[in-house]
Amino acid sequence: MKLDRKTFLKYFGSAGFITATGGLSTLLAACGEVTATSTTPAIGTSATSPVTLDNFNIPLNLPGNQGVLGVLDAANLPFEITTQQTTLEILKGKKTTLTVYQVNQNGQAYTNPIIRLKKGDTFTANLTNKLSEDTTIHWHGLTLDWHMDGHPSMPVKSGASYNYSYTVQNRGSTHWYHPHPHKLTAKQAYMGLASFYIIDDDDNLKLNQILDLKFGETDLPLVIQDKTLDTNGQLVYQPDLNSQFMGFIGETTLVNLTPNPYLEVSTRIYRLRLLNGSNARTYRLAFVKSKSGEKLPYSIIGVDNGLLDKPYPASEVFLSPGERVEVLLNLRNLAVGDVIALKSLSFDPMHNEMSGMSGMSGMGGSGNPQTPKPEDGAELYILKLLVKNQVQYERVIPQTLSTILPFDKQNSVTNRFSLSQGMGGMGQAGGSAMQWLINGKTFSMNEYLLTVKKDSPEIWEFHNETQSMPHPMHLHGFSFQVLERQNSPTQIKTLATYGQGRLATDLGWKDTVLVWPGETVKLGINFSHNFEGEQTYLGHCHVLEHEDGGMMFNYKVV
Ligand code: C2O
Ligand code: CU
Ligand code: CU
Repeated sequence: MKLDRKTFLKYFGSAGFITATGGLSTLLAACGEVTATSTTPAIGTSATSPVTLDNFNIPLNLPGNQGVLGVLDAANLPFEITTQQTTLEILKGKKTTLTVYQVNQNGQAYTNPIIRLKKGDTFTANLTNKLSEDTTIHWHGLTLDWHMDGHPSMPVKSGASYNYSYTVQNRGSTHWYHPHPHKLTAKQAYMGLASFYIIDDDDNLKLNQILDLKFGETDLPLVIQDKTLDTNGQLVYQPDLNSQFMGFIGETTLVNLTPNPYLEVSTRIYRLRLLNGSNARTYRLAFVKSKSGEKLPYSIIGVDNGLLDKPYPASEVFLSPGERVEVLLNLRNLAVGDVIALKSLSFDPMHNEMSGMSGMSGMGGSGNPQTPKPEDGAELYILKLLVKNQVQYERVIPQTLSTILPFDKQNSVTNRFSLSQGMGGMGQAGGSAMQWLINGKTFSMNEYLLTVKKDSPEIWEFHNETQSMPHPMHLHGFSFQVLERQNSPTQIKTLATYGQGRLATDLGWKDTVLVWPGETVKLGINFSHNFEGEQTYLGHCHVLEHEDGGMMFNYKVV
């Protein structure tokens, strides 16, 4: 579709500004937001296209005891971690430059280590920033003093160090860590900075024992990220105006940094810890038998902040950027030679109002005329599972996993947050453009959208007024329960069979929740903590371009 001048002006700027400056490139430059990281034009290769399963023939990268996503036992052991550039062979015979977390410990080298420890352990890491720009590490989902939380007001400058040291207070859970520097989060995370942070507790260890699950073999962390690679195998991150506004969508989906991955499996139960580490893409995950196209039922057992009370049967689940879901997949009734695909089913991304903008994606971002990238909501494959071994396996999924005490609404204060879009200032360069707003505002480093009282229960209502896209809303500092969904779109309503409009994934402790256009989502939060002094935390949309673009706020706990 072609973008006409009227539509462009409607969404991106005042007529005077554009006429005066003479066009789009000047506007882009004036925004100071164009980050070109590659000079080679993006020409995705059809070999990595995620739309056909035949392409899936690269062995999935599994966490070992070193290397990429090596498991780092961080319990009570201080270590040095650097942010730096490295090259990895992502496409065969090509060296891809990535930005990574590097740890060298006891003669082992870890790239984007999977940090693993137990509730109650002490964590101590000294970050040295070897990048040429600011960074911070945010431990997504952890309960931390805000000085440890990677807040952008405490940037770690190029060449500088920062000590992260704290006691792990959270339940057993699949968390992750990624950068959070001011306006640079999207680019740095996209270029490679992200990995898992796995906390064990008694419930988790018990489950793995009952089901004979081994981390790295049958209990697998899987981070899904869509990226665009050029013909030289280099990552392309050139968000045009459209992707700055709607979020950057990549041409290929990688799992654990493997494009088009496959995994050989046995006829038994697997635990999969799925993390959506994409900048903007949401997935509607299903396991499908490749021959019949039939959906394989599975059990949802955990969400962002740990196990649910019991397993919930499912055949599909939405996973938006920042969210985690843990599932048990039972392959016992399959035969050697069977092929199962983990795929994202097509869905309506509800980019309604902005649909006239689709013509803009050709304007210098990504895109290959031969292999058009799958848009948000398009059907695509993620991982191929090949049943290789018939094994004896008699374990049964327990009916109780953990205890979730329901949020106590008594004496709670209600705060409302409206998500909208409107014209806002573009910062230094002046001018104006369409922006995402929370209660009519964009992020300002030294302002607080609200102050909450320590130890008080609150209900936070997020209402997505925009008809243009869903927003995965994330809170730092505290986990929450989803109390209710109102006015959900049909594709959500049909999955909402648990009362108060809730989905199975709404039934545990969360830190990120997708709020669909028109929807109101009510969260219950207890603002109790044991840190010294006032705390400042962030709340934001986890579409990383939205976060960098100011769809974020500070809140203070006093
Ligand atoms: Cu994972 Cu503030 O984000
Ligand atoms: Cu976070
Ligand atoms: Cu958003």
